[in-house]
Amino acid sequence: MSKIKANRKRVRFALSAALPLVLASGATLAAGEVSEMQREDFFAYCASCHGPSGHGDGPVAIELKKRPTDLTQLAKNNNGNFPYVRVRAIIDGRGQALGIHGPAEMPVWGERFRQEGRNDTQVRGKILNIVDYLVSIQEK
Ligand code: HEC
Repeated sequence: MSKIKANRKRVRFALSAALPLVLASGATLAAGEVSEMQREDFFAYCASCHGPSGHGDGPVAIELKKRPTDLTQLAKNNNGNFPYVRVRAIIDGRGQALGIHGPAEMPVWGERFRQEGRNDTQVRGKILNIVDYLVSIQEK
């Protein structure tokens, strides 16, 4: 494993440990560095509907009854605070999150990533990575 990769792992761990504190204090998460992997995941899993830049204008969007959310406006629509926990739950789509936004056309990614052979920790990590990417594309 390269040094950079190892460092990133440590940062990721530190972040997930610090997250409850950050949320408790109501602070806004700063947009972090985005890795190539995060960008690739967004393009592979989300861009078809939400568009390459997240504006909700992907090629599949016209096929859907509901317009995919403009993912660059999540913080703006929440008084400037990125709704980290909610977004994470929506992307996962399992458990509590189910039914939050009705008969969703949005895939249940938690289930999908699990079916691809990941364990819970890996599914969690993958979703956190995607959420971090979304944090990085927020428009002011
Ligand atoms: C098949 C199309 C499709 C794909 C692929 C898709 N989405 Fe969605 N997504 C939607 C639609 C449609 C909505 C909004 C309509 C609804 O309420 O169901 C939505 C809503 C959302 C919301 C809710 C925003 C809010 O505040 O309510 C988030 C967050 C989101 N998507 C993130 C993602 C991410 C991240 C990915 C990739 C991992 C992804 N979506 C992939 C179709 C899609």
